[in-house]
Amino acid sequence: MIKIAPSLLSADFSTIAAQIGALERAGADYLHLDVMDGRFVPNISWGPKIIGDLRRLTRLPFDVHLMIVEPERYLEQFREAGADIITVHLEACVHLQRAVTQIRSLGAKAGVSLNPSTPVALLEDVIGDLDLVLVMSVNPGFGGQSFLPVALRKLSEARELIDEGNPSCALEVDGGVGRENIRDVVAAGADVIVMGSSIFGASDPAAELRALRSLAETPGTH
Ligand code: DX5
Ligand code: ZN
Repeated sequence: MIKIAPSLLSADFSTIAAQIGALERAGADYLHLDVMDGRFVPNISWGPKIIGDLRRLTRLPFDVHLMIVEPERYLEQFREAGADIITVHLEACVHLQRAVTQIRSLGAKAGVSLNPSTPVALLEDVIGDLDLVLVMSVNPGFGGQSFLPVALRKLSEARELIDEGNPSCALEVDGGVGRENIRDVVAAGADVIVMGSSIFGASDPAAELRALRSLAETPGTH
C-alpha cells in the first residue's frame, strides 16, 4: 500500500483548515510538515507552535521533517506539539543513533533523511533502529523544485537495505514528485510519497490527490 503525504509547505495558510479537511476526506495518509530554520536550509517555515495549532484541525498523523541544525534540542517540543513521525537529517546529527533513540523514547516513530549527495550506505549501521528512511529527491529548502534522477537509484539502494535489515521500515521520497514520475518512485521502492506543489498547485488539490494515488497504484511504464 502506498501512503501519500501532502506537504503543507505549498499550501495557502489563509485557508489551511479547509484545505486540510479536504485532503483528509480525499484519503491523505499523513500530513508532511517541513520545519526549516534558515541554517540547515536557506529558508524558514514554522516551529512547534504552528504544528500544535494544526494538531487541533485533524486526526491525520503528522510526519514532521526537521530541516534544522541540532535537531536533538527540539525533539521533545515537536513531539509535545503532536508529531507522530519525526525525521532528522543525517547531515545535521553528529550522534545519529542517539537522536533516533531519543525520538523513539518520546513515543514517536523515528525517521532519517538523506540529502541528494549523501550515500545510502551511511545508514547501514542504524537501519535496524529506524521506522522510516527519507530519500530527498531535491536539495531541501523549497517546494516546487525539479526531481533529481539520482534519487531513483538511491531509492532502490534504500529498498534493498530495508528489505535485508528492517523490512518494517518505511521508505519515503520527498521533492519534485508529481504525475510524471510518481510511478517511477514507486517502482524504485518508495512506499510513502511526499508531494507539495503537485497537490497544492492543482486547481482541486483533493481531486489531484486521488488522481495521483490511482496513478501510483497502477503498475507499468508510461
Ligand atoms: C523540500 C521539502 C518538501 C517540499 C516538497 O525541502 O522537504 O517537503 O515541500 O515540495 P515539492 O513536492 O513541491 O517538491
Ligand atoms: Zn519535506
